[in-house]
Amino acid sequence: MRISVLGVGYVGLVTGACFADAGHTVACVDVDPGRVAAINRGECPIFEAGLPKLLARTVGRTLSATLDAAGTIANSEITFIAVGTPFDGERIDLSQIHEAARIIGRALRDKPDYHVVVVKSTVVPGTTDGSVRPILEQESGKRAGVDFGLGMNPEFLTEGEAIHDFAYPDRIVLGGIDARTQDVLAAVYASFTAPLIRTNNSTAELIKYSSNALLATLISFSNELANLATALGGIDAVEVMRALHASRYLSTPLDDGSVVVPPIVSFLLGGCGFGGSCLPKDVAALAAHGAAAGVPMRMMRAVLDINAEQHSKMLELAHKHLPSLAGRRVTVLGIAFRPDTNDTRESPAIPIVKSLLAEGAHVMVYDPAAAAEAARLFGTAVTVASTLEAAVDNAEAILIVTKWDEFLRLPGLLATLGRNPVVIDGRRMLAPSAVGCYEGIGRA
Ligand code: UGA
Repeated sequence: MRISVLGVGYVGLVTGACFADAGHTVACVDVDPGRVAAINRGECPIFEAGLPKLLARTVGRTLSATLDAAGTIANSEITFIAVGTPFDGERIDLSQIHEAARIIGRALRDKPDYHVVVVKSTVVPGTTDGSVRPILEQESGKRAGVDFGLGMNPEFLTEGEAIHDFAYPDRIVLGGIDARTQDVLAAVYASFTAPLIRTNNSTAELIKYSSNALLATLISFSNELANLATALGGIDAVEVMRALHASRYLSTPLDDGSVVVPPIVSFLLGGCGFGGSCLPKDVAALAAHGAAAGVPMRMMRAVLDINAEQHSKMLELAHKHLPSLAGRRVTVLGIAFRPDTNDTRESPAIPIVKSLLAEGAHVMVYDPAAAAEAARLFGTAVTVASTLEAAVDNAEAILIVTKWDEFLRLPGLLATLGRNPVVIDGRRMLAPSAVGCYEGIGRA
């Protein structure tokens, strides 16, 4: 099919490249000439594993980028809206969605053929039908459900694993104003193997929020229990959670004696809190949207409240060994909000580094992918190490904030260096016995 994608940010580019790789003809539209030119040269403007290869395979064949929205929409059968929805701390800003709808509506005015418009960006329930639809109808002079289709097709991409997530989806949600819209969307996804969930647009919007709200809730639940274990003393929260994972509600014993453990349990372990561009924003936006609808959303508020304080547990553990951090050499391992990305948005590392600096520590940071971002975030206030060796060489305390595989080398490295700083494990990466002086959130 001929597909146009509006907005070549993270979601738009991954979506466009994956559809192009699946054999569709895809044109990605953006207002940034530099970005458009870079993509057409086959250069990848974002850090995402596998994406440069995908661009090399598709650009110039089934994938192109352009500034020409009207012409591209007119020449395609379906348009995905994948523009940004910036967050002001409370609500998402829908102005880019509205502008995209205006552009598409104007392009549809002169297009004789049936066209389908699909919202891919994460938007609060009611947006597609309540505000995108009237703009499209007004600008095009046409009717949704008659002259054009209108759908909502949320993405479920984890940063660093997005290409895999797109190629092997667990479900494909086909929100649509009518069956005809859903049929066109189903045709776009014809080569993908996953259960198709046909539903209306508002339900599709809430499915997306519910998915992230559940993950965030599990994380804050685990963190609250980990904090309780610490306060009560003599309880290892990791042991508690491992036993919880083994419950038949979570793990399935098979006849051959093996056990199938679902991936969701990776969210049921204490740590130093969640970050990123999705979980914090989606939970907060859902809470605000619910409150505006008269539902207080107490659980979502609690999830956010617990997360807002969780990073401070890292410093509490550091204080057990270094009562004053003033003048102490402290290394923070991991600045990205999760491994396999250089994205630092809402990363717990940010408040952790700021608190260390506020207490007068000499802070060194190391991240395998986000060194430039660390320098941009903290300037000369911290030293950015270029290797793990340099980062830990002289440290008196080492805080693991991001679960990068490389940090598994830490015990061996410290043994080689003959050093014994306190290691504070915010991601349960190491066995407590792996280093001479270990502290972990919720660990006995
Ligand atoms: C999340 C979801 O996992 C995806 O399913 C979803 O599609 C995506 O948001 C989205 O809305 O686009 P992402 O934010 O990229 O993906 O990454 P996650 O692996 O979910 O990590 C989010 C945060 O939770 C990270 O800061 C991570 O360190 C933290 N986390 C994760 C924990 O604190 N504890 C855990 O047990 C797991």
